[in-house]
Amino acid sequence: MALDPRHAAYLDALGVDVYVRRDLPAPPVTPAVGSGPEASTGEGATLGWDALRQAVAACTRCELHATRIQTVFGVGDVNARWMFIGEAPGADEDRQGEPFVGRAGQLLTSMIKALGLRREDVYIANVLKCRPPGNRDPRPEEARACRDYLERQIELVNPALIVAVGRIAAQNLLATDTPLARLRNRVHALGAKRRPLLVTYHPAYLLRSPGEKRKAWQDLLFARELLGRIERGEEVVS
Ligand code: URA
Repeated sequence: MALDPRHAAYLDALGVDVYVRRDLPAPPVTPAVGSGPEASTGEGATLGWDALRQAVAACTRCELHATRIQTVFGVGDVNARWMFIGEAPGADEDRQGEPFVGRAGQLLTSMIKALGLRREDVYIANVLKCRPPGNRDPRPEEARACRDYLERQIELVNPALIVAVGRIAAQNLLATDTPLARLRNRVHALGAKRRPLLVTYHPAYLLRSPGEKRKAWQDLLFARELLGRIERGEEVVS
């Protein structure tokens, strides 16, 4: 099958050699269950999109409100089948008010396009809605304070598949400190609704370690195959 030049460019951004791509073995499916909390009980638990967006914009639950330019809510199709969840806004996102718009964001967009989707076909959000100063890791109390906003976003989008982007997002969502390498390549079940969740590398990491892009591409192939199975009504989490 010939690839159109733009699709080839997205694959190229991911470091994927087109002639290799079709020969990659499918990653093993080793269902595993993550028991991360996903049962909103906080103030955000029942809000609709407008009220939720307003609550986030006015949020002062943690210290990050003092240093942000603006909150970064989330973007994309509110009825998306795919939801990508990252860590926290960086400087570009803080300035523009949209997740994943900086260099790492451009790579995430290429990853989404390599899946044959448009950025606007998916929903993109972060664990934290405010930028941690100097892009430090989110603190547990910050993630806790923000948690019900993300839970409500997940509830409202009701995606078929969640992709946790990077170690911090994955560990926060699944309430685990298991290393990322052991969280990849498995289907996790998120929260009480046991939503299928996969874990892949953060694009900022891939920019620093381009040799890992090939594994990220394997994750995406796994995700695409899994989504197909979900859409066919197969049980993918045990
Ligand atoms: N990294 C993230 O995890 N999220 C963003 O929105 C930008 C960079």
